[in-house]
Amino acid sequence: MCGIVGYIGSRVAQPLLIEGLKRLEYRGYDSAGVAVLEGDHLRIARAVGRVAEVEEKLDQLGGFAGTLGIAHTRWATHGGVTEANCHPHRDDKSGIALVHNGIIENYAALRTYLEEKGHVFSSETDTEVLAMLIGELYEGDLEKAVKAALREVTGAYAIAVLCEHDPNTLVVARKGSPLMVGVGSGEYVVASDASAIIAHTSQAFPLDDYNVVRITREGFRTSTINDVPVSPKMMQLEMDLEQIELGGFSHFMQKEIYEQPKVLRTTLRGRLDHNEGRVILGGLASFAKELIKARRFILTAQGTALHAAMIGEYLLEDLAKISAEVEYGSEFRYRNPIIEENTVVVAVSQSGETADTLCALREAKDRGAMALGVVNVVGSSIARETDAGVYLRVGPEVGVASTKAFTGQVTVLTMLALYMARRRFMSPEVCARCLRQLDEIPAKVEQTLESDYRVRKVTERYVERDNWLFLGRGYNYPTALEGALKLKEISYIHAEGMPAAEMKHGPIALIDDGMPVVFIANKGRQYDKVMSNIAEVRSRGGHVIAVATEGDNDIKSVAEEVLYIPECEEYLSPILAVVPLQLMAYHAAVLRGHDVDKPRNLAKSVTVE
Ligand code: AGP
Ligand code: GLU
Repeated sequence: MCGIVGYIGSRVAQPLLIEGLKRLEYRGYDSAGVAVLEGDHLRIARAVGRVAEVEEKLDQLGGFAGTLGIAHTRWATHGGVTEANCHPHRDDKSGIALVHNGIIENYAALRTYLEEKGHVFSSETDTEVLAMLIGELYEGDLEKAVKAALREVTGAYAIAVLCEHDPNTLVVARKGSPLMVGVGSGEYVVASDASAIIAHTSQAFPLDDYNVVRITREGFRTSTINDVPVSPKMMQLEMDLEQIELGGFSHFMQKEIYEQPKVLRTTLRGRLDHNEGRVILGGLASFAKELIKARRFILTAQGTALHAAMIGEYLLEDLAKISAEVEYGSEFRYRNPIIEENTVVVAVSQSGETADTLCALREAKDRGAMALGVVNVVGSSIARETDAGVYLRVGPEVGVASTKAFTGQVTVLTMLALYMARRRFMSPEVCARCLRQLDEIPAKVEQTLESDYRVRKVTERYVERDNWLFLGRGYNYPTALEGALKLKEISYIHAEGMPAAEMKHGPIALIDDGMPVVFIANKGRQYDKVMSNIAEVRSRGGHVIAVATEGDNDIKSVAEEVLYIPECEEYLSPILAVVPLQLMAYHAAVLRGHDVDKPRNLAKSVTVE
């Protein structure tokens, strides 16, 4: 979704706004804009394309000197990618300027109402309707007008609003889309996430749904849209700038693929008690008693997080012998799900802001489920709305294509399964053995990364092909789905993942001469069946690229290309098998000349349904 930045203080706002936009650009980036109040005159610069285009415009305009401003990078939902549809949007009566993340669902009815009152619109967006509504309701108090307008809208929003007639007030509000307020000394920085705040202050608080914050240079007041005072929950931002810089890599995705050994050690640190043979998950401690009564787990997520959740399903059933199922958040919410007693819902999400997942979590809680979060961003909406949870601790993930968050999620779900197993029936000895195996994984990821050059050479051979298949069985069926998604979302090559056996039931018709078919063929319970599927593909001219276990020589005779991963227990193999697939997608995108970290049409956190 988009990025919002706002500033009020004594420094010139423009450079802070631009720097903040660049840190948020990964969130959504088809166009951008800045509005700054110079005295009582509002100055706006907007452009289609990257933030750099707006900088160009600002240079042409001689720059903006004001110390109060708002800025936005857009991920279009209503209205094409045009300059007229860029944010900030203004009203035509009261000198209002507004930036917005989300969707005003009843914008059409509101627009009709406002047009009948004589307002003239200049864009196709839902956002402009909100700006116009605030302007219509403005009678000298910006906070009051914003609250009155928000009581009329349905949908999701994070907004920052200023007014020409009030040079010392910035109003922000949120429902469904994330927004934080950074508290500096005599200045405030508001932003969609901490990466645009951390350079200025480590003191911040997230807004909750229906919160409105009125900020002046002297202080701030938080209340609800119905004017009920709220005490914000201050937090200490833990990230540092180094974590959100490229650090010598060519792209954030490449950096984050290579960070996996280090960050997975952080994910595991302090959570594996080798002496007692048990997993320590502090975030679950207050719910340990309820958790042990759990009879069913529902894991809900989207995209890459859903693939991790699918591996979690296998882990919970295989290791903890507990019933588990995975549901797309977007489907679960509207399916009228049956939630019996002692059901635990687990929301898996890197950002902790994915609207589909958040809504599914709320639905499950409303129906009586206990809610756990497996989330990366501390203090995110999902983290705040679950009863308990486990943070990934993989650090900020900037690349739109999720990599280290995936392996972090699978690692946490492995610990969750072992945590449940040990409390239900698993002996300390068996658990201790699993913990040793798990502890070896970061080093094995490091070993797997050494094959990066080989992965690139293999990718070069097939990068021109426009259709790929990814096939796997058991724990690595979700890994195949993840490999296909990675390739699709950054190289724009069409790729489909599925269970290896399913290929025979129709998709085999797709296979033509030389078609790249990636098999995850590591040693495991279904290795022989995978070898049969490989034979079926080869007999139809498909070219097999096999991810296989080191030391397996049989695979060489049936695969055009073999990418080896170190030997490991089958239940841990997705964390290793996914690494060559991440690298393959990365190289394909680079070879095809695409913007690896900001692929077209995508956004890092999808905060709309
Ligand atoms: C992953 O590469 C994609 N960018 C996308 O599928 C992502 O995993 C999905 O939107 C879920 O995001 P979340 O983990 O922040 O909830
Ligand atoms: N719905 C608004 C628009 O299409 C905001 C989109 C966003 O979150 O960037 O402009």
